[in-house]
Amino acid sequence: MTRQPKKGFTNMPNDNLWGKLLFSPTILNKTKLASSVQAKTIVITGASSGIGEQLAYLLADYPVHLILVARRGEKLQQMKREIEKKSARVSCYQADLRDAKEREGFLAFLHQQPAGVDIVVNNAGHSIRRSIQDSLDRYHDFTRTMAINYFAPVQLLLSLIPQLQRNQGKVINISTINTSLIPLPYWAAYQASKSAFDTWFRSAAPELNAIGIATTSIYLPLVKTPMILPTKAYQNMPAMSAQHAAQWIAKTMYTKRKTIMPWWLIFGQLASIFGRRFWEWAIPRWLRKRRG
Ligand SMILES: NC(=O)c1ccc[n+]([C@@H]2O[C@H](COP(=O)([O-])OP(=O)(O)OC[C@H]3O[C@@H](n4cnc5c(N)ncnc54)[C@H](OP(=O)(O)O)[C@@H]3O)[C@@H](O)[C@H]2O)c1
Repeated sequence: MTRQPKKGFTNMPNDNLWGKLLFSPTILNKTKLASSVQAKTIVITGASSGIGEQLAYLLADYPVHLILVARRGEKLQQMKREIEKKSARVSCYQADLRDAKEREGFLAFLHQQPAGVDIVVNNAGHSIRRSIQDSLDRYHDFTRTMAINYFAPVQLLLSLIPQLQRNQGKVINISTINTSLIPLPYWAAYQASKSAFDTWFRSAAPELNAIGIATTSIYLPLVKTPMILPTKAYQNMPAMSAQHAAQWIAKTMYTKRKTIMPWWLIFGQLASIFGRRFWEWAIPRWLRKRRG
């Protein structure tokens, strides 16, 4: 079951040559996926929109217990009604995961689950594109992005590690390709917070693996979701569909790969290393010109 792209995405390149080249199709082995998720409890944070929403609909065909969390509770209830027409069972939890009290409530809810959690998909996230000059009185942009993109998943995982160890479970982190490239101007709040959790997770992963918890970091390129709508420059750039991103995530539920990234990211990483000095010379000049 997939959902139609939302309004505003219709003029974005979908299946053009660039799209096909950059985001070659994923083949999902439904039999393997079914046997690896059978009767599992899967937490999806940020399930009310974009990638998390599509992942929930993709998993609707399997006999799993989905625990969906986001701030838009009514949207989650509506998804529950649709998904439960198929094979999955759904529990919804409405919470602002930036809020410590609401996080505690969610954790208490998770600890009430009799079988415990088997798979956590850390997907909830918030992005902000704003120049430093425009951020001088907006310190809250930085605390808020850290709260949702860093502190929330750290607290969630610390609390769930004993359950995940007992169930020999899995954690899938939805990261971004930007964490391994030269940081872009205007994206300081988002990129710093996503990189913080990416580093935390990569540092914790060997310890988690040693106690039987599998881990996967997924480095997504641009994905057509409501998150990118405010950025005009992205409207005509090639971007992966949210359904495709959901397939990447679902595939990691039956493969043992620890890292998933687009095939072309390596070239960006090399350019980030060898082109850094040029970048640091050229970009301030370019920004100065733009400001006039
Ligand atoms: N789109 C891209 O180009 C792209 C690229 C690389 C990585 N990613 C990552 O992919 C993940 C999913 O993003 P998306 O593109 O699907 O964006 P999206 O459509 O905006 O979805 C974000 C989800 O996070 C939830 N969320 C945001 N703030 C929350 C909060 N304070 N408490 C609880 N839930 C919250 C939202 O639900 P509510 O608003 O209902 O709370 C929503 O379900 C993010 O981690 C993002 O960093 C996206």
